[in-house]
Order: sequence, then structure tokens, then C-alpha cells
Amino acid sequence: MQFDFDTIYDRRNTGSLKYDLAPKYGLPEDVLPMWVADMDFRSPECVVEAIIERARHGIFGYSEAPRGYFEALEKWYKERHGWQIQPSWLVKASGVVYALAQAVRALTEEGDAVLIQEPVYYPFRQVVEQNGRRPVVSGLVYDNGAYRVDFDDFERKIRENDVRLFILCSPHNPVGRVWTREELERMGDICLKYDVLVASDEIHADFVYPGYKHTVFAAVKPEFEQNSVILTAPTKTFNLAGLHISNIFIPNPVLREKYQKETAKSGMSQLGIMGMVACKAAYEGGGAWLDALMEYLTGNLAFMRDFLRARLPELKLVEPEGTYLVWVDFRALGMSAEELERFIKHEARLWLDGGTMFGAAGAGFQRFNIACPRAVLQEAMERLEKAVRSRT
Ligand SMILES: Cc1ncc(COP(=O)(O)O)c(C=O)c1O
Repeated sequence: MQFDFDTIYDRRNTGSLKYDLAPKYGLPEDVLPMWVADMDFRSPECVVEAIIERARHGIFGYSEAPRGYFEALEKWYKERHGWQIQPSWLVKASGVVYALAQAVRALTEEGDAVLIQEPVYYPFRQVVEQNGRRPVVSGLVYDNGAYRVDFDDFERKIRENDVRLFILCSPHNPVGRVWTREELERMGDICLKYDVLVASDEIHADFVYPGYKHTVFAAVKPEFEQNSVILTAPTKTFNLAGLHISNIFIPNPVLREKYQKETAKSGMSQLGIMGMVACKAAYEGGGAWLDALMEYLTGNLAFMRDFLRARLPELKLVEPEGTYLVWVDFRALGMSAEELERFIKHEARLWLDGGTMFGAAGAGFQRFNIACPRAVLQEAMERLEKAVRSRT
């Protein structure tokens, strides 16, 4: 089957966060948005059709997941990730960040320490701080163009700060690491040793480049299953972020009850019907589309890598193992974080996520979202080249 990822759609005036907020932020009118993590591709046709069919019914009363919802998830996780889920583990939520905030409140007390690995997806720090908990950072080490965990630091930070919860980003946004089973096992064992719970955000699990394999944290060993909350969603994979649906798996009944009590406190009951309809349709019928998408993204990554090597060798692309986010080292340009922000947005006219959003360790870096038609990526690279050359 053929899938089209080359068509450029006009997303302006669709209520798009990515496209419609440039004036609000004082950005140039023709700025090219490659920031927030959604894709410029249409969702698979099976998803669009399922939504249309459900919409035609015309009645949108309080809803639960359509029949076959769990089975669709079960098949997906078994076939794609070798993980067997159980119906009782599943708690649906309107989003992964929302669920992370619930988990922080449910599983820790005010003032407790929560470990994160910066540079990391910035809502991790926010959900910790906004709920009156203390973020403790065990920074990833940037070594020879790649990021790794400093396990001694990881253990020391946990021990010295009496950490109660670790929020793991797996695969990791923004550095693109797909953690190996061995790395997960080492982190998970340290957490078990110090009685630290693990919230594993696996929203990018389906975006893994050839040669790498995502391992679900809970699938590493039974002890991890009982010590973790696994946060998943079809929203990155099939570009459904605006439909607000995520699937949280909590195998341990005690942890699950705490989590459910917390969501009950917030008045949360059912979700929107369209997210659940889309989720089921995507996991049932979107596999071939995703495989084609991964090939396209692999091509985009190769295009960007080759372009930077040939025409902007001073910029260093941190090779991602997964995700459609590319973390680029701009430090050779010698700009301060503020100067770099201005340069990218107003001279290159690219709207990226600036490195310091992900923590102080991100200074001098920028995050590109390459889930766009290749022609758009090419335009972005050419804008960047022109802007850099006008300075050097
Ligand atoms: C690691 C990670 N978690 C969560 C999210 C957002 O999830 P949601 O929209 O379900 O809150 C993103 C989006 O970029 C992400 O990168």
C-alpha cells in the first residue's frame, strides 16, 4: 500500500498550537514551525474514517471505550513491543502529562524528591514543581556526541535526597536515546534498592530507528512491573494529540488504587468519545501506515544529517535512536542562549524548542521536529544555512 507523506497541508487557521500562535509570541509571520511534537502528516485513513463514521451517528452522549478497545491495545503491545498487558492494569486519561501530574500527587507527598534526567521534556520538572514536590536532577552525560546515564550519580542523587519517584523518559525526549534493556535494568534495580517508584513515559515508544529496540520498562522483570506506572498513548504515533487520549498501565493494584483516588479527586470521569474511537482504529489498522512513516522519517533524518555534514559542519546533530525530534548542538557558533534564540527565530526564521527549556544542560542546543514533508525540512535547512552564512 502506498502512503503519502510528501503533501504539504496548510494547517493555519485550524486552531493549531504549532501554526496559529506565532503572532502571540511575536514571531515573524513566515516563521517555520518545527517546535511542539505533533506531525504535519494526516493520520491514517482508517482513523479518519472511524471518526467520520462515529460522527455520522450524531449522538455524543457520555461514553466509554468502544468494544474491542482493550484487545486492540493488547495486540499492539504484544506484537510491537513483546509486552502482555492485562485489562485490570489500564486506566485511561486525557493525556500523558495530565496522568504524570496525577501520578506525582498520588504516589508522593508534598516536599518529596522526584528524580528527572535533564535535559528532558520540560513538563517533567513542571509537574513536580507545580505540585509542591522537589525536582532532583541526575543529568545525562554528553560524551563523544552521545548521551548516557551516569549510574553512580543516579544512585547518589537518589540516596542523598531520599528520592521517592523517578520519572523516566523512554525513549528520551529530547536526546533521542532508546534505552537498552541493560540500562533500564540498572536504573530499575537502583530504584528497587532505595524503594523509588518509577513513572515511565513511553509516549515515543513506536518511533525507533532501524537497529534499535524499545523495551517497555515493566517488561524488564516482574519486580519492575510491580514498581512502575507505564504511560502510553497513540497520540504521537498516529498524530492524534488534539484528541486527548492516553493509556496508563498500573499493574500493581495498590499503586493503581492510589492513582485512581487522585483522579477521582480532580472530578475526572469519562473521556471524549472521539479519542477512544481513534485510538482503537489506529491500533487495529494503522500498523502499515506507521511502518511507512518510520521509513519516511528515517529518510528525513538522513537528509538532515547529510545536509548538516556537507553544508553546516559546525552544527552537530546528536544521532537519535528514536523519536522524530532531533537535538542539535549549536555551541560552535559561540552565542549565548538568548542570542541563539533570537538568531533561530528571527534570523533563520525557524520556530524550534530552545535547549534551555529542557534544563540548564540544554544551553547551546535546539530541538528540531522533523515530522514534516521532506520539502519543508529542506526549506528549514536552507534557511538555517543562509542565516549561519550571513554571520560567518
Ligand atoms: C515525553 C513526552 N511525554 C508526553 C508528551 C505529551 O503527552 P500528552 O499530550 O498526552 O500530554 C510529549 C509531547 O511532546 C512528550 O514528548
